[in-house]
Amino acid sequence: MKSPLFLSLALVSFGTAYPDILAHLNNVESNGKAVKRQAPGVTPPFDPSLQYVDTTGQYAFVAPGEGDQRGPCPGLNAMANHGYLPHNGVATISEFIEGTGKVFGMGVDLSTFLAIYGSVFDGDLTGWSIGGPTSLVSLGGLLGEPQGISGSHNKYEGDASPTRGDLYQYGNDYLVQLSQFQALYDLGKAADNYDLDLLTDYRATRFQESIDNNPYFFNAPFSGVAAQPAAWSFIYRFMANKSAEYPEGRLTGDVLKSFYSITGEDGDFTYTPGHERIPDNWYTRHPVDAYTIPYFSLDAVAQLVKYPEFGSIGGNTGTTNSFVGIDPSNLTSGVYSASNLAEGNNLLCYALELTTQETPDLLSGLFTDISAAQDQIGSALNNATNSLGCPQLNSINKDQFSQFPGYTQAYDGYTDPTSGGLL
Ligand code: HEM
Ligand SMILES: *[C@@H]1O[C@H](CO)[C@@H](O)[C@H](O)[C@H]1NC(C)=O
Ligand SMILES: *[C@@H]1O[C@H](CO)[C@@H](O)[C@H](O)[C@H]1NC(C)=O
Ligand SMILES: *[C@@H]1O[C@H](CO)[C@@H](O)[C@H](O)[C@H]1NC(C)=O
Repeated sequence: MKSPLFLSLALVSFGTAYPDILAHLNNVESNGKAVKRQAPGVTPPFDPSLQYVDTTGQYAFVAPGEGDQRGPCPGLNAMANHGYLPHNGVATISEFIEGTGKVFGMGVDLSTFLAIYGSVFDGDLTGWSIGGPTSLVSLGGLLGEPQGISGSHNKYEGDASPTRGDLYQYGNDYLVQLSQFQALYDLGKAADNYDLDLLTDYRATRFQESIDNNPYFFNAPFSGVAAQPAAWSFIYRFMANKSAEYPEGRLTGDVLKSFYSITGEDGDFTYTPGHERIPDNWYTRHPVDAYTIPYFSLDAVAQLVKYPEFGSIGGNTGTTNSFVGIDPSNLTSGVYSASNLAEGNNLLCYALELTTQETPDLLSGLFTDISAAQDQIGSALNNATNSLGCPQLNSINKDQFSQFPGYTQAYDGYTDPTSGGLL
């Protein structure tokens, strides 16, 4: 590797981060009732009648057919296959919020943010496709066809994903690469247990694989620093089966295979794209234990503390093993720095504040008139950064981004006409 400028971060104890987080969590409503929300790290209750997820009748598995959209997100694919999202794979913002809450116990703050982000960058402001472009997502006011989350490279979809390949290594970013699934499976099979520690270690392996193999690897502020830790934490936080014995959940190999549409025996797995299943007799998060933005922030920081390179915005410069990371204080005129990124909610704040600074540029490539889109994403970003108590940025210094083909998209003759520079 050519002198990577990985950040050296001070390790910060969670003791300092907790009081703020608890204050946010205690004041949140759950399921329309004023319930005292569970704090992360405190053992949640288990109530099978509230947590059982129905996979029968109207929620029975139905494989996708001609024209149905499925894409890089195993959770959304499974929901569409079981009638918790429209079977065609195109849904509205409120359908995403309702479905992710019901099936996985995602906090309304997090699902609202994620669904709105999709509607603005990959859809038509009211909804979006969980796969690629489709005539079902309308075109009014848009410069091009909405690309769905499969066509959202470096906006939503990023490199170094758990099981999906890097776009410029495999030519697609939405299919499971069996080698990656098998490697993940192997790590937990002896104990038949896939927990956050194991996943965080495998994330570090995948990050290094992208540096080693993808000349255009780019760890972008949003898709890399904010969304990527979610892809990893969601595997355990959402897929794990909750029970009286394991109220926080235990994720076994069989449940992992089901959610990832993998069948067959270890060493001879078969992947059937788009056939993700919610296992029968599977239990989701307790309603008072919804997975919120502040809760996710703690998980993202825990990953960063173990592997500081995850916070390093930057990428390869056109050859493999050429990773250069941008110094956060250079980018943000000192508001964020390598030494404070692991404090409190700074990691997510850093990523979201940079995204806020970059949205006008991004939107000008997508919409004839950006004002409605700007209002919608601006409000979602503000709500998220307010709930995290983020130090604000007034401007950013983008000069250094031009060295990354993963940012400028000037690689292999491929340029995305809809965007001049991506975050
Ligand atoms: C509205 C809510 C959601 C949105 C907008 C969303 C979007 C996405 C996107 C764009 C990716 C690709 C990121 C990448 O490049 O790695 C992704 C991956 C992923 N999502 Fe979702 N997602 C949502 C909800 C969920 C839920 C409820 C789960 C529950 C299991 C989930 C689990 C995952 C996992 C595990 C990955 C990584 C896939 C892999 O590479 O192995 N997501 N999601
Ligand atoms: C979830 O856990 C319960 C309690 O241990 C068990 O009965 C059930 O079979 C598990 N579900 C799956 C899909 O493993
Ligand atoms: C940021 O880094 C660039 C390139 O190393 C350097 O030219 C510039 O002076 C730095 N700016 C600040 C504010 O540190
Ligand atoms: C932001 O929060 C306000 C106040 O809770 C809410 O009315 C609004 O709908 C939220 N906007 C978005 C885009 O989440």
